[in-house]
Amino acid sequence: MTKAVLGIIGGSGVYDLPGLEDMREERVASPWGEPSDVLRVGRIGDTPIAFLPRHGRGHRLSPSDINYRANIDVMKRAGVTDLISVSACGSFKNEYHPGFFVLVDQYVDRTHRRENSFFGRGCVAHVPMAHPVGPLLQERIASAAVAEGIPFTLGGTLVCIEGPQFSTYAESITYKHLGYDVIGMTAMPEAKLAREAEITYATIAMVTDYDCWHPDHEDVDVAAVVAVAQQNAAKVARLIARVAKSFPAEHEPCPVRSDRALDGAIMTAPSA
Ligand code: ADE
Repeated sequence: MTKAVLGIIGGSGVYDLPGLEDMREERVASPWGEPSDVLRVGRIGDTPIAFLPRHGRGHRLSPSDINYRANIDVMKRAGVTDLISVSACGSFKNEYHPGFFVLVDQYVDRTHRRENSFFGRGCVAHVPMAHPVGPLLQERIASAAVAEGIPFTLGGTLVCIEGPQFSTYAESITYKHLGYDVIGMTAMPEAKLAREAEITYATIAMVTDYDCWHPDHEDVDVAAVVAVAQQNAAKVARLIARVAKSFPAEHEPCPVRSDRALDGAIMTAPSA
């Protein structure tokens, strides 16, 4: 049996996790370098929790400067089996208004200057990414959102840009026409690295703005993102507490094999 441990990575506006009981701070060392912050470890109900603010306390790290490998590595070392990533996002759909949550199930990676694998020279692996989100974890988040009366939609595609600049109008309408639902700057390579670490992953994309395509809304700026993200932080805490309180003690085998992603994925022959 694998004991289930729920990891939470908080994005803009989510720098702590109210409701985390018996909380202690743990500085977990990683061979991949410095994670964004100390891990805050505790429990909600009977579920062990590890929390990490992606940008660090005080929002010190820009999306391109986050050490995603160290962040996922310290989660793995803390025993995390299931990871919920919270991200502020722009919306490409009229009905996905600021304050709305999108439980995305696909990502398009447009980042280009981030370390995106634990593998490489000496040990080559290709993990499957067709289904990057763990459906059981996503369903648990959806059920919790229903119970908490939080407006959300199940499924959607998040395009992750490098940033730190927001998109141009041409980029924004292109993403909209391509059918993407939301845009952010941090889900990738996080989702890829979680898969390589065999951690089941799901994103709560909290809409903060309409990027810059919408004729009836102001173009996105930091003030709008911060204002909505701060208003949403309490909702996120309620949602996570609800997920945690009914979380199984034992990790549920993932139907898309996120917890066995390395089976058959390593190309390099073991050295004699
Ligand atoms: N995060 C929040 N809003 C965003 C936007 N419009 N584009 C990229 N990242 C975002």
